[in-house]
Amino acid sequence: MAKESSRTPIPQHVAIIMDGNGRWAQKHHLPRLSGHEAGRKSVKQVVQAAIDHGVRYLTLYAFSVENWQRPREEVQGLMGLLRGVIREELREMGKEGIRLRTIGRKQDLPDAVREELETAIETTKGNTRLDLILALSYGSRVEITEAVQAMAREVKAGKLDPEQIREGTVEEHLYTRGIPDPDLLIRTSGEMRISNFMLWQISYAEIYVTPVLWPDFGKKDFSLALDDYAGRERRFGGV
Ligand code: FPP
Repeated sequence: MAKESSRTPIPQHVAIIMDGNGRWAQKHHLPRLSGHEAGRKSVKQVVQAAIDHGVRYLTLYAFSVENWQRPREEVQGLMGLLRGVIREELREMGKEGIRLRTIGRKQDLPDAVREELETAIETTKGNTRLDLILALSYGSRVEITEAVQAMAREVKAGKLDPEQIREGTVEEHLYTRGIPDPDLLIRTSGEMRISNFMLWQISYAEIYVTPVLWPDFGKKDFSLALDDYAGRERRFGGV
């Protein structure tokens, strides 16, 4: 749907494709998992920077549906890392006013990770400073496919009239229901790809690609991305 021309200096919603952990590890002659561990520090810095700048929603692409195909040790390592971060940062999230949310196929995650997540989601649900949305076992095509299935079920049950399906109806069936679309999409480590990330939601997002590898990405780099965003004129297809 066409939106009015707008130019707010601070994006309300920033989404990040955190790429380059493996290359960072290789560059430092370390195992891949060390790259992900180093990436954890960047997550902390960027969350703090988002709060400092007044960003309201931050979505991080932490694990894609395709990532399950990685070697078993790497997948297990990432899951362990994730569980540890959520547990160790829960208190901090409360202090900083962070509400933790997820998008993706939560049912695919190991029980221990899912339980840790559910506790954190429940504990932080009243926080209103920053919504931190982790994309976990996330894929945009599977998200849209599941939305189509859900709508088809409602049509079959006589609860939804196909003629009444609008863009808003589709949005209500996505994992992101109730969350505004990203204004700014950041991708680290230089690749010019979307990699099955929020295909519906980034329709009008500004895209910022930096060659900086994710473990090297910090507060300063986040500010640079925001500066770049502030200089863009968003027209949403208008003139
Ligand atoms: C992409 O780098 C990164 C990932 C698949 C995982 C991201 C996970 C973290 C940063 C760990 C902590 C996260 C949270 C949210 C607590 P890559 O391995 O694809 O890098 P490469 O393309 O250089 O191989």
